Amino acid sequence: MMRTRPLKVALLGCGVVGSEVARIMTTHADDLTARIGAPVELVGVAVRQPSKVRAGIDPALITTDATALVKRGDIDVVIEVIGGIEPARTLITTAFEHGASVVSANKALLAEDGAALHAAAEEHGRDLYYEAAVAGAIPLVRPLRESLAGDKVNRVLGIVNGTTNFILDKMDSSGAGYSEALDEATALGYAEADPTADVEGFDAAAKAAILAGIAFHTRVKIGDVHREGLTEVTAADIASAKRMGCTVKLLAICERAADGQSVTARVHPAMIPLTHPLASVREAYNAVFVEAEAAGQLMFYGPGAGGAPTASAVLGDLVAVCRNKLGGSTGPGESAYTRLPVSPMGEVVTRYHISLDVADKPGVLAQVATVFAEHDVSIDTVRQSGKDGEASLVVVTHRAPDAALSGTVAALRKLDTVRGVASIMRVEGE
Ligand code: NDP
Ligand code: HSE
Repeated sequence: MMRTRPLKVALLGCGVVGSEVARIMTTHADDLTARIGAPVELVGVAVRQPSKVRAGIDPALITTDATALVKRGDIDVVIEVIGGIEPARTLITTAFEHGASVVSANKALLAEDGAALHAAAEEHGRDLYYEAAVAGAIPLVRPLRESLAGDKVNRVLGIVNGTTNFILDKMDSSGAGYSEALDEATALGYAEADPTADVEGFDAAAKAAILAGIAFHTRVKIGDVHREGLTEVTAADIASAKRMGCTVKLLAICERAADGQSVTARVHPAMIPLTHPLASVREAYNAVFVEAEAAGQLMFYGPGAGGAPTASAVLGDLVAVCRNKLGGSTGPGESAYTRLPVSPMGEVVTRYHISLDVADKPGVLAQVATVFAEHDVSIDTVRQSGKDGEASLVVVTHRAPDAALSGTVAALRKLDTVRGVASIMRVEGE
């Protein structure tokens, strides 16, 4: 039965994502009403700069007093698309206290303080939904939280940052420079307000923390995630990857240890073979592999950033939360019962591509190989090229613990014949 009294929605933030949320709420109002079973009414839009022109938004709805808006007491759902830690965190908890459920796209906040937010939602009997926080439009949070709730997920591997994928793709395909590619990503609305979050891997690390927590039913914070950005990736790395039949991607990798007693979460650039499905993920698209015990390998692919795609995920959550509200229930809360510890990066086992500048003289290759052997890191392939007494040596290893590789590199740096370590990159997806 259709309820005629509308559900009241407050929108916090009206930037790249918020403006698209407001637009879709208006243009799809009839469909949303039919799908929810009641109309939804946008009753307020909190922003920082009230004088900005905002197409399609009734100026009477605009306010700079977000706190007063969430404290009104008659709001059913607050949509938080401001971003950052504060004031978003206080606004969300205040919304719970004053009767509203919350839909948020704020991965930074969820990865920093998700447990406290979930606890506050539960205490007040509200929903906290955040599909848009990970991989934009791609349904990933709900499949992990709900569809795979009966399975055991062992690994999540993916490209979860559109900006960096866009940059690496442009550098790889058109030879564009790093800055030129970043400017283009920013103009298209993919990059965060401060692109450091994207290029230094903080954005992907936040998403990895959220994914690991949901996938393994534990708590992982952004500080638990090993993080390396793409600012050190050079044209030479990309060329070297090509020579190996690989491409370079910024990957988020969350794994359950073989003994099932701990998990790891990491974000770093890695070489992956061109034959791997992630290699063909272009521009700002995201793709995530989920490996579950019974389901096997699942791949989720789609637009991972941008106003409209992200708003699609927000609106999906809005519909779900409104349906729960009308049914007098709430959706799934936090599931963190396994309490699995997060192991340090040193325990991660993978393959490595190491590029060294060495003296080109007899015995150097043997010296280098000895250092690898002393650290129990097995060499898979070696390629040398050089002239005039200098050589470039590219070593690709078999699988080894990260700590063993770090020890190897530290020892290599001490050799007189090693002029420098030009790059170290992990090789994944084989
Ligand atoms: P924008 O910077 O484009 O928009 C932020 C909005 O918040 C602006 O409207 C701004 O107001 C408003 N705002 C900032 N501070 C305050 C405040 N103190 N009180 C009230 N309003 C405030 O960000 P995005 O739309 O890109 O991102 C929003 C959220 O969505 C973030 O958490 C982000 O991580 C997440 N997200 C973004 C994606 C994307 O592709 N852009 C994809 C997935 C998630 P004003 O307009 O006046 O400046
Ligand atoms: N800046 C983020 C990205 C937005 O590029 O993926 C989506 O979270």
